[in-house]
Amino acid sequence: MSDYETITVGRPLDRVALITLDRPKALNALNLRAMREITGAAAELGQDPDVGAIVLTGSAKAFAAGADIKEMQPQSFSDVYAADWFAGWDALSRVRVPLIAAVSGYALGGGCELAMMCDVLIAAENAKFGQPEITLGVIPGMGGSQRLTRAIGKAKAMDLCLTGRMIDAAEAERSGLVSRVVPTEGLLDDALAVAAKIASMSRPAAMMVKEAVNQAFESGLADGLRFERRLFHGTFATQDQKEGMAAFTEKREPKFLHS
Ligand code: CAA
Repeated sequence: MSDYETITVGRPLDRVALITLDRPKALNALNLRAMREITGAAAELGQDPDVGAIVLTGSAKAFAAGADIKEMQPQSFSDVYAADWFAGWDALSRVRVPLIAAVSGYALGGGCELAMMCDVLIAAENAKFGQPEITLGVIPGMGGSQRLTRAIGKAKAMDLCLTGRMIDAAEAERSGLVSRVVPTEGLLDDALAVAAKIASMSRPAAMMVKEAVNQAFESGLADGLRFERRLFHGTFATQDQKEGMAAFTEKREPKFLHS
């Protein structure tokens, strides 16, 4: 679509889509239009059978510097409560193909929360993460207090959310917030390579992995194990299970049909 104002959307590699946040003058601050465009584009791409993974990235200086403070400033409690401000981001969690966040520069507030909504989080060496909402007299509103706590534990999440301090990529990796740290110049290529690898796998299997891992956050162990087992059983109904296991026994590379 060409009428996006806050993002660009491309298909740089076979089966890989790329959404780039594009509000450079505001360091990719996430206004409501950006929320609608990012979630809309991701939902559309996620339903395309020729897309196996989606990379979400920003600029070298900022993945996203948070929700748009200038848009929020004049709002009243009634405004944000009645409109259920930020609930629209839930749509991103319903995208079923893997989302890869490629983070360079600032990922603050809503930017950090957006990165955490993705499934694989790749950080450039210059990345900086934080939840500085408290410095504005508010608290995280796009999942920061919940996803950050699950990702890095109570002690670190309290530290970041209560002080508003930023952590660098090395500390983010040590804390378990990011999947990998890569050289800043190579970030996009590295993230696209990870996406291409994922997209080359069986699409239904990758979707089931995503669903099963996410289930670990929603249920107790016994329910989660049963959920995983049922999905595992389900893979035996796919052509890709036949192909994947046949390829192994025939000592060749699999040619997945993504069905
Ligand atoms: N919202 C709106 N505009 C923003 C913004 C934001 N979150 N972050 C940066 N900008 C704008 C600045 O206002 C500035 O615009 P002008 O040129 O018109 O003044 C432009 O982007 C460049 O920013 P700076 O001049 O501040 O750049 P810097 O390099 O000096 O500092 C920064 C970079 C440290 C990231 C600083 O911009 C900053 O602290 N930004 C705000 C970070 C923040 O508090 N984020 C949390 C927002 S609240 C939230 O996200 C709630 C939630 O949970 C969803």
